[in-house]
Amino acid sequence: MELSWDEVLDEIESCRRCALCENIHRKVPGQGNRNADLMFIGEGPGGDEDLQGLAFVGAAGKLLTRMIGAMGLSREDVYICNVVKCRPPGNRTPLPEEMAACIPFLRRQFLLVRPRVIVLLGATAGKAILDPRFSVTRDRGKWVERKGFWFMPTFHPAALLRDPAKKRDTWHDLQAVMEKLKELA
Ligand code: URA
Repeated sequence: MELSWDEVLDEIESCRRCALCENIHRKVPGQGNRNADLMFIGEGPGGDEDLQGLAFVGAAGKLLTRMIGAMGLSREDVYICNVVKCRPPGNRTPLPEEMAACIPFLRRQFLLVRPRVIVLLGATAGKAILDPRFSVTRDRGKWVERKGFWFMPTFHPAALLRDPAKKRDTWHDLQAVMEKLKELA
């Protein structure tokens, strides 16, 4: 059954399916254009996101905003969310059971937005959505098509902040995304 946006957001707000919610300020469901053709999926909220209740608003988020701008789009054109909706302590990678508990929310958001193209930011999103054996260095930049939805895995913006040499490959991947969006339009 497809839930409405209000129902999904209420379920996220009241969720106690794993222990992550015990140490947070705010849930971070995700935000943006609910009719977007393009969706970005990251890992989970960091400190700034946890305080504001908004996805990708810290340093990595500012870079993501610039990447979206370089694609000729704005954040209002796209939907931005994460695999987990609660900040893992110390920004550690979410555990497999935390991802498993949270992924039904992402699935529902996905079915409500029905984006044509999805950019998976980093290894966690790749593992959660494509394959637990996903490796970002090996598998980024390769399209995965499932039921007419097109997934493009690429580096997480936080990885680009740590290692700017990865920007070139990432830009290549985002150009492929722009071409795919044109092709599907
Ligand atoms: N990193 C993520 O994966 N998601 C955010 O919302 C912020 C930083």
